[in-house]
Amino acid sequence: MRDLIFNKLYPYIRPYKAKAIGAVLLSVVLAAIGGAQVALVRPLMDKGLSPETPREVVLILAAQLLVLGLLNFPCRFFHFYWLRFIMDRATCEVRDQIMMKFLRLKSSFYSQSKQGQMISNAINDTQIFAQGFKAVVDLIREPLKAIVYLTMAFISDWQLTLVIFAIAPFLILIFGVSGKKVKKHQGEVQHEHGELTHTISEGLSGHKITKAFNLQNFVFNRFHSAQERFFNSVMKTTFVEEMAHPLVEVIGACAFSAVIVFAHHRVQMGETTVGEFIAFVAALALFMDPIRKFSQANVKLSQAHAASERINKLLTLPEERKDGKVQLDHFEKEIIISNLTFSYGEGDVIKNLNLKIPKGKKVALVGLSGSGKSTLVNLLLGLYDVPRGTMTIDGHDINDIDLSSLRKIFGLVSQDIFLFNDSIKNNLKVGFDFSDQEITQAMEVAYASEFVNKLPQGMDTLIGDRGTRLSGGQQQRITIARAFLINSPVLLFDEATSALDNESEKVVQKALERLAGEKTVVAVAHRLSTIQDYDRIYVMHDGHLVEEGNHQELMSKAGEYAKLYELSQKIS
Ligand SMILES: Nc1ncnc2c1ncn2[C@@H]1O[C@H](COP(=O)(O)OP(=O)(O)O)[C@@H](O)[C@H]1O
Ligand SMILES: [Mg+2]
Repeated sequence: MRDLIFNKLYPYIRPYKAKAIGAVLLSVVLAAIGGAQVALVRPLMDKGLSPETPREVVLILAAQLLVLGLLNFPCRFFHFYWLRFIMDRATCEVRDQIMMKFLRLKSSFYSQSKQGQMISNAINDTQIFAQGFKAVVDLIREPLKAIVYLTMAFISDWQLTLVIFAIAPFLILIFGVSGKKVKKHQGEVQHEHGELTHTISEGLSGHKITKAFNLQNFVFNRFHSAQERFFNSVMKTTFVEEMAHPLVEVIGACAFSAVIVFAHHRVQMGETTVGEFIAFVAALALFMDPIRKFSQANVKLSQAHAASERINKLLTLPEERKDGKVQLDHFEKEIIISNLTFSYGEGDVIKNLNLKIPKGKKVALVGLSGSGKSTLVNLLLGLYDVPRGTMTIDGHDINDIDLSSLRKIFGLVSQDIFLFNDSIKNNLKVGFDFSDQEITQAMEVAYASEFVNKLPQGMDTLIGDRGTRLSGGQQQRITIARAFLINSPVLLFDEATSALDNESEKVVQKALERLAGEKTVVAVAHRLSTIQDYDRIYVMHDGHLVEEGNHQELMSKAGEYAKLYELSQKIS
């Protein structure tokens, strides 16, 4: 708990220390106001209701009540407003950190984890965590109030107050046990929340296949059973939470009944006045409220603790390296790959590979599906470390190169097209400051102007989630225009036309050629006719490099390449 408050929560409060201290101080004032209100009960009862009391005394009492009520207003307002402010600010800051983390994680992490879990962490856990702030202040304010009410009760009737002390151990026991139980189940609740989010996002992104194959029931059942598991896990904490509150109330009722019997006896004996007794009862009744809130805050703090552990786990996941010694400003000469072996974790998918990509040359990678071509592209982009063998760019080991400078060298056009749900223009600019003229030129190069100009809103057309309002070929032409604008010295084409129909494939192919111009190109090609005039073709098979040469040389060998070429001719 100390760790949660001082190491996890405090750093987020620090910038808003003044507000936090203000809120805590106001909780003292609020407790004092509560106490003063109780203190008025006895004179109100004894004097206010008595016919002998002069009018002025009653007016003074009423005025006192009014002043307390008015004072209460700004205190309560600022106390809770500042608290909520700190809570919601902290939620934003934790989310910023999580989002930044998501963008910097090692590539291996994305394929291992479910997006839904990650989204749920970012939205739900941060909220639960931030409620810890409120809980901490509740844990200060409510006991203060409890002490004030208890003191008032003690002043009214100390003997009766002793009854309350008899119930204290039971209350402590209930809080202790329920807090522990909730924390235990909270991890499960969060996990199931993540699964639920995951099935929803799957359902939405897979809507086409779902309908095409009539999989609505399958998808709905996946969601439904995730939802049932979520419900069951929630019910476990609900049971504990809802059990704790009435238990506290039962104990309160026991104490109350005992007090009433005892008090009646004392009123009969003339040891106490009715006003005194009512003041005592009021203090006791009010005393139960902070106790209940204290118990809730206790539960919330346990939940926040569990959430903070999960957030912490996320925030300490390994990131991509940041300590690149070499800043790559230009691409001067060549990329050399020697004795490269790579594995994603299980078997090796690239085996002792040697190849060269000289500046200004066009290099193709061909091979059956699964032979490791895309993996090589991933490695060039620095998405994974290269622990075995070497990859050098102009003589610098790729592991030493600053990642963002490395990635500036490459422009990727791949079969996984990604566009943002925004206008065409913003998808081309992606945060850079290109002029309208540059954008128009890029669209010309990519054969994109012809269809963009026909759209009613032209460049300002919103293209839908991942660009779904455009055809595959149109989407790809937008990404080609984007690559043209970004203007990297080395272009990586990874089966950029493989998902397209024949017609769009031809246009996109032409656009790719115009984009390539005199630049260095590494192309993974599934249609071998497109790379016939390439300077060098590397043929891969099961992670090995099996042949290399230009088209003529490889055809005359009548080996693997010739087979692949024949295959690709047959298909088209
Ligand atoms: N993220 C990944 N995690 C684990 N294995 C992967 C991953 N990506 C690809 N593989 C495996 O690596 C091998 C090579 O894949 P890939 O480089 O995509 O082949 P290609 O692009 O030549 O079709 C395949 O066996 C594939 O299953
Ligand atoms: Mg591939």
